[in-house]
Amino acid sequence: MKAIVIYFSRADENYFGGKMRYIDKGNTEIAAEYVRDICGADLFKVERKKPYAKDYMTCIREAQDEQARGERPELKAELPSIDGYDVVFIGSPIYWGTMPQPMFTELEKLDFKGKTVMPFTTHEGSGLAGVVSDVRKIAVGADVKSGLAITGSEVAKSKEQIRKWIENNL
Ligand SMILES: Cc1cc2nc3c(=O)[nH]c(=O)nc-3n(C[C@H](O)[C@H](O)[C@H](O)COP(=O)(O)O)c2cc1C
Repeated sequence: MKAIVIYFSRADENYFGGKMRYIDKGNTEIAAEYVRDICGADLFKVERKKPYAKDYMTCIREAQDEQARGERPELKAELPSIDGYDVVFIGSPIYWGTMPQPMFTELEKLDFKGKTVMPFTTHEGSGLAGVVSDVRKIAVGADVKSGLAITGSEVAKSKEQIRKWIENNL
């Protein structure tokens, strides 16, 4: 079984238990690295060519406007294909109820036919929100498994939860 994790994650300023603070590594990236540690998956980080603002409140507005306009922002680098992978983990923070728009830019370019897809989110209350249903729309012909939602501010202690989810679904 060859697996890849395609994920988006933003460091910089974020909201943790009622307080804003700057971090070096985003929550979803921590979860993506746990998936890699558990099943040896490759990692591909989706990055917006022009990154979102470092301060949280500006980023919130940028992401909301971009989503309202249905934009597919340009990426720093694109993963052209998932040929050669059996399992595709899709890791995403929740931005306004679904994935950040750069994830749509990347995922819509890929051919998911015959793949097993494992979606996971990090969030601050919305759980999986619309992610599984949006992934199902994009990943035509794939077997999309039940998703895993991880509270972003508690991601550091989520490794066993991730391990169980993988064992139960693959
Ligand atoms: C632009 C933006 C929009 C967000 N929208 C939601 C939301 O709708 N629901 C939610 O539970 N959390 C929301 N969050 C919180 C993030 O999903 C959460 O902090 C996540 O763990 C961030 O992942 P990252 O550190 O990998 O980028 C939002 C955060 C940002 C920056």
